[in-house]
Amino acid sequence: MPASKYAKLRDVRVLLLGGTSGIGFATAEACIEAGAIVIISSSTPDRLSSALSKLKTCYPEAATANKIHGHICDVSQAESLEANITALLEFATNNNTHKLDHITYTAANVPRLPGLADYQASETKSSTVIIRYDAPIMLGKLAPAYMNPGPRSSITFTGASTASKPTPGRGILTGLGASTEGVAKGLAVDLAPIRVNVVAPGTVDTDLLRALAGPDPKVQAGFKEMLKKVTLLDKVGAAEEVAEAYVYFMKDANVTGAVIHTDGGRLLK
Ligand SMILES: NC(=O)c1ccc[n+]([C@@H]2O[C@H](COP(=O)([O-])OP(=O)(O)OC[C@H]3O[C@@H](n4cnc5c(N)ncnc54)[C@H](OP(=O)(O)O)[C@@H]3O)[C@@H](O)[C@H]2O)c1
Repeated sequence: MPASKYAKLRDVRVLLLGGTSGIGFATAEACIEAGAIVIISSSTPDRLSSALSKLKTCYPEAATANKIHGHICDVSQAESLEANITALLEFATNNNTHKLDHITYTAANVPRLPGLADYQASETKSSTVIIRYDAPIMLGKLAPAYMNPGPRSSITFTGASTASKPTPGRGILTGLGASTEGVAKGLAVDLAPIRVNVVAPGTVDTDLLRALAGPDPKVQAGFKEMLKKVTLLDKVGAAEEVAEAYVYFMKDANVTGAVIHTDGGRLLK
């Protein structure tokens, strides 16, 4: 019996778009702990360098082994989307000489969408939509040329529990979450045997959640209390809990076109 039958992430190459904070950062930590080589990316140089130094401080052995890397890549502007993702993929693979095994996509900005009454068709060109709809499609177009072929390789996108259980007044965002699931299923068919899946989180305690609540810590605490009440488990998720779903999708070479709900049971309440 091999000693490492389940150590499937040892020395594999994982690119994490949106890996500098929240769920993506926790997934990077989980990958490093499992022995992977990680490349994190996001749009802000300061946040990238601070995330890299945090990872290198927490995991000195991985840092010494040159297993922690990062690169800037803004995925919120239509004009630069293809060039930016191509540059990131070139960096992450050392000019396509070291193919990727897995990609996770957790990049997201604070959603700026109007209510239904104020909706304009021009919203489809906003950064909120580009980062959640266009960028995953562009990644699906470009990434396979930089990935090891076969079912051991995977791409995991991020949706939201609201796609299955809409929050009142957030219909447009609900549509974007649902579009991620649709795009992932389409790409699972088009990119097979590379696998494509979606993690659909409920509320998770991250920078994004704090930004949605606003800067006042008291309001943030009240917001979290309110969100706890809509779950069966009476809790807001932790990034390191939700990160396990991304790790699972990387490791199970038999799963594609699937959605994992990690939402404290919100869908059943
Ligand atoms: N937290 C929740 O309650 C919750 C609930 C449901 C779904 N989700 C989904 O889970 C995913 C991760 O969210 P999170 O809560 O972990 O958020 P987060 O902590 O704010 O992380 C978002 C990541 O995206 C990056 N990012 C932001 N703008 C970007 C841009 N223009 N180009 C490239 N990267 C960009 C951020 O880095 P920079 O700022 O440096 O660019 C950061 O690394 C998102 O898809 C989100 O919609 C979250």
